[in-house]
Amino acid sequence: MKDITCIEDLRQIHKRRVPKAFFDYVDGGSYAEETLRANREDLQKIKFRQRILVDISQRDLSTTVLGDKTNLPLILAPVGSTGMQHGDGEIHACRAAQAAGIPYTLSTMSICSIEDVAANVDKPFWFQLYVMRDRGFCKALIERAIAAKCSALVLTVDLQLLGQRHADIKNGLSVPPQLMKFKNIVDFMSKPAWLSGILRGKSRNFGNIAGHLPGADDLASVSAWVNSQFDLSLNWKDVEWIRSIWPGKLILKGIHDVEDAREAVRTGAQALVVSNHGGRQLDGAPSSISVLPKIADAVGSRMEVLFDGGIRSGQDVMRAIARGARSCMIGRSYIYGLGAGGEAGVAKALDIIAKELSVTMGLCGVNRIDEIGPQVIAEG
Ligand code: FNR
Repeated sequence: MKDITCIEDLRQIHKRRVPKAFFDYVDGGSYAEETLRANREDLQKIKFRQRILVDISQRDLSTTVLGDKTNLPLILAPVGSTGMQHGDGEIHACRAAQAAGIPYTLSTMSICSIEDVAANVDKPFWFQLYVMRDRGFCKALIERAIAAKCSALVLTVDLQLLGQRHADIKNGLSVPPQLMKFKNIVDFMSKPAWLSGILRGKSRNFGNIAGHLPGADDLASVSAWVNSQFDLSLNWKDVEWIRSIWPGKLILKGIHDVEDAREAVRTGAQALVVSNHGGRQLDGAPSSISVLPKIADAVGSRMEVLFDGGIRSGQDVMRAIARGARSCMIGRSYIYGLGAGGEAGVAKALDIIAKELSVTMGLCGVNRIDEIGPQVIAEG
């Protein structure tokens, strides 16, 4: 691990170790990938003011999110099928997050179930909910998250229907799944470390769903059921319903417009995540970083504003905080680490970003996260 110095190094190792179908699933975005690229490009356009001769000996990366202390302004974002990047991937990622002192978010579409993760980690984690047409199933999922002592519910609101990812269709990640194509089997066999981890893992299906519905046990039937569950009628009233049955902290993920942010304030949720789903949904939407300042202004202190989309370095975290984010979710950056080396790979990703953030703060003359503001950004 010592020659790994940046997230791109982890990405390259992930690409070598994990079959193409699963690497492409992580790396790509929807349609022409305009928004995926904009997320990165617009972050890189933000330049810092280099400050000198400030005492930067007391730098501290800790902060709070929803009243809880975190060691870094980072949260692991919900990522579906994490357990196909590495056997028991969700457990590895959650353990690395907890060791680093930051929250981990388990996706509804995880491979390990809520119960699998809860039984194998020390502390509570966050649970992300997709609202499906079968509201009884949603309610049961929320009850399972309560029973597992999940400490926040992240309600994702930007996926009422799916943006197309061309590579997934070509690779057989479709409904029904066509993974057993000859070229995929050859690829799986040529990745023995990955394959043995997957075969030893607790699950190779969507663990929160398989076995919890009559007649939906194998991957094909579970995928078909999920595909039938997208709810085009989902609206703000459903958020009220979720609010009424989830007693804990509620976070709305996928807010990308000032009007929606104002509406989000009225729901009683404690936080929102400015997100375009990592460029995987509405292609042609502006970058997340470009909409963040207006949303942060509109919300003020009434909700905490979290951010994701394109974070690949500590410099990017600094940029998002300077533009109004309280903390940043990362998706691909930690999944590259997971694919490259399981729990140790995720820990490496977090360490890389933390060190980059610490140095960037120092060179901008800042000691604490709450000192990061517009003053660290160079004009023009
Ligand atoms: C995601 N994302 C996501 N979001 C969510 O709410 N539920 C989910 O199941 C998933 N699944 C998922 C799979 C993969 C492979 C990726 C890359 C992303 C979106 C994710 O939570 C987050 O918004 C983005 O990943 C942020 O962008 P970056 O950090 O990947 O650039």
